[in-house]
Amino acid sequence: MKRILVTGGAGFIGANFVRYQLEHGDEGLVIIDKLTYAGNRASLAGPLQSGRVILIEADIADRTAVDKAFHDYSPVAVINFAAESHVDRSIDDPTPFIDTNIVGTYTLLEATRGYLRQLSTEGRRDFRLLHVSTDEVYGTLGESGLFSETTPYAPNSPYAASKAAADHLVRAWHETYQLPTLITNCSNNYGPYQFPEKLIPLMILNALEGRPLPIYGDGGNIRDWLFVEDHCAGIWRVLHHGRTGEKYNIGGGNERTNLQIVDQLCAGLEALQPAASNEALRRRGLTSYTQLKTFVADRPGHDRRYAIDAAKIRAELGWAPALDFESGLLRTIRWYLENRAWSDTVLAGKYRLERLGEGS
Ligand code: NAD
Ligand code: TYD
Repeated sequence: MKRILVTGGAGFIGANFVRYQLEHGDEGLVIIDKLTYAGNRASLAGPLQSGRVILIEADIADRTAVDKAFHDYSPVAVINFAAESHVDRSIDDPTPFIDTNIVGTYTLLEATRGYLRQLSTEGRRDFRLLHVSTDEVYGTLGESGLFSETTPYAPNSPYAASKAAADHLVRAWHETYQLPTLITNCSNNYGPYQFPEKLIPLMILNALEGRPLPIYGDGGNIRDWLFVEDHCAGIWRVLHHGRTGEKYNIGGGNERTNLQIVDQLCAGLEALQPAASNEALRRRGLTSYTQLKTFVADRPGHDRRYAIDAAKIRAELGWAPALDFESGLLRTIRWYLENRAWSDTVLAGKYRLERLGEGS
């Protein structure tokens, strides 16, 4: 069986991509994942029983482990999802962001370079490494304009800076060593299996438990939201049909302020699990989810607006999001309502939905 090496496959987007690949592709998957707080076997329960997925618990910065995976499974492609991914955590402690996002990506590039030297001409010709990145590398937008592939990098958080550094390494390994690389820069994702430290799942779980919904600053910051399966479909197209050495922006064209998101989540929860039937709210004497909205101190260096121009991937590869935001959000709320056991499992570690990243 041909195999794709997927790093970070036990995380949010990785676990969704594994499912997407099992449904749409023929290749099997070898996952390298360190299983940090954000990576969970529970997110791969079904795929691990498919007979097409192997999970190796290892750090992408561990060259010996990465070399061994290449040697044992001879992958035809690599997709690098592995990363520390939460801006607030990068404010509290940037160290793992440097270790994984920069040193880890560097190690993966070097291991790939070594592996390619041993491949036949034909194997080398077909091989590709896709590095998954973010629109946050471009910094912040004002009230108008969109990020395109030629927007200069101007990262503002330690997370964004570490991803920008990784993108530069990938670019350099293509230019210098002719590594057949591709980079995707995507906007904010939402959907099943997202660790509940990020805005949407955090708000859903807090609301269900009758806890405050912490809105940073004035709630006017804008993100461009994309359902995770649409992101996976974009990655799949870029992997199979993108031009090596190129980067592709992926975005949903769904700009919303954080306040709009929280209001829409409250309305969606009301429709699916009315506040009147929620014991946690009743105990606090509350009659609606919106009463939980709470404005808190802003995130330091908080980017005001992200928005993606996805014209290149649309025109070159025919990609477009399949799901509209309203349906995607309802699907997501329903998934978190029906999968409380998953949330309980991934929250069994140290993190208990508390505020992170206030800075000092
Ligand atoms: P996530 O935090 O949910 O998952 C990250 C995964 O990487 C986890 O399974 C974790 O265990 C693993 N990991 C962390 N350090 C590792 C290491 N040193 N070695 C091996 N595995 C390691 O992140 P996500 O939201 O799924 O994001 C995946 C990728 O997509 C990241 O590169 C992120 O920068 C990028 N991205 C995310 C978004 C988003 O909205 N979530 C948007 C655009 C791009
Ligand atoms: P987040 O999900 O952390 O993604 P990112 O910072 O990578 O965009 O945050 C999305 C937006 O929501 C961002 O503007 C910060 C804001 N936010 C809150 O207002 N409250 C919260 O508790 C969290 C986690 C985020």
